[in-house]
Amino acid sequence: MKIGVVGLGYVGLVTSAVLAEHFNSVTGIDIDKNKIERLLEGYPPLYEHNLKEYLVRNKSRLTFSWDYNDLSGCDAVFVCTPTPTVNSRIDTKHVEGSCRAIAKVSPDSAIIIKSTVTPGTASKIRESTGLTVISNPEFTREGSAIMDTEKPDRIIIGGDKDDICETVWAFTGSPVLKTTNENAELIKYASNAFLATKISFINEIANLCETIPGADVEIVATGMGLDKRIAPYFLRAGIGYGGSCFPKDTQALLGFAEDKGVDLKIVRATIDVNNSRINHAIEMIKEDVEKMGIKKLCVLGLAFKNGTDDVRESRAIDLIKGLISSGIEVTYYDPVVTQDIRGAELSRSIGECVGSCDAIVIASEWNEFKELQNMNVTKPVFDLKRLLEMNYFKHYRGIGLWHE
Ligand code: UDX
Repeated sequence: MKIGVVGLGYVGLVTSAVLAEHFNSVTGIDIDKNKIERLLEGYPPLYEHNLKEYLVRNKSRLTFSWDYNDLSGCDAVFVCTPTPTVNSRIDTKHVEGSCRAIAKVSPDSAIIIKSTVTPGTASKIRESTGLTVISNPEFTREGSAIMDTEKPDRIIIGGDKDDICETVWAFTGSPVLKTTNENAELIKYASNAFLATKISFINEIANLCETIPGADVEIVATGMGLDKRIAPYFLRAGIGYGGSCFPKDTQALLGFAEDKGVDLKIVRATIDVNNSRINHAIEMIKEDVEKMGIKKLCVLGLAFKNGTDDVRESRAIDLIKGLISSGIEVTYYDPVVTQDIRGAELSRSIGECVGSCDAIVIASEWNEFKELQNMNVTKPVFDLKRLLEMNYFKHYRGIGLWHE
């Protein structure tokens, strides 16, 4: 098929690469000329496992452009433009603008909305453009986005004349749920809010574990996850969820429901718990900083999670800023991010980072940080992601672990 993709961020680029891999002819559009020029030279503007390989391997079926006219004649155009949350409400101007532009240049295309939008958005766009508008939310995680797109747990398709979307994704072999646009739009928000709730729930249990001699949230979560109804996923305690989706989507869902006169109490509590995680971690660290005379900390991990260079809503950055405000010196290291943070010092390797500090803080789950277990580290370790085996360290404090 001839497929267009508008908006070449994570979702758009991964969608383009995967659809080209599966023998579609793909035209990717973005208004950022700089990004298009780099893509045409063969450089993806972001780090995602396998993305570069996919783009290179399929370059004969992939074109990139900033000109919407190049979409003319497409069978379907995926809309992957951003939907920022402003004052707890989503702003759909980019999605609506893209759809208007598509309607002008390719009036026979079906529009498939991948962007996360609140219920009612697709129907509104259908009315204003007169085109076929299908909702097909994405559920991909950064770091495994290609795999998640090629083999998703499920494909949600909302709207009439939805066969074209089902045909595009047929190669995945994944179960398909066909429904209304509104249900499809809400499934995305409800799924993300539910996963965020699991994280906040286990983080509250972690707080409780820290007060009970002998308790450890890791073991509690493992025991809970063995129950098939609960499942072991998204039960890792830490410094809270970050990234481009959960914080923005939980806020947007809350605001959307509020406008409908519905108070989503659990989603509100999920956000509150998440907002309290950084202070909780800083208080935990400060107790020992004072007791042990620690002056400088090495923070390992800067991106919002391992496996990505994305720092949007990174909890690690909030943590570093909070530590600095508390008068603690900070040096930091991340395997793929080299962003400057005012008042903190960037290290170029784990060795350099660990060597120049009095204590170590784990802020994300890169496997590379497990090297610390073989480095005979005698400095105190604060494991905020429960990545390390505590037995390797003389002084170890973990989130959700009772401590004298
Ligand atoms: C998420 C959703 O998983 C995906 O379906 C959606 O389409 C986009 O948002 P992503 O933002 O890539 O994907 O990250 P994810 O792996 O879900 O993690 C989100 C945040 O939660 C990270 O900060 C992560 O560290 C944190 N997290 C995750 C936990 O603190 N504990 C967990 O058990 C899982």
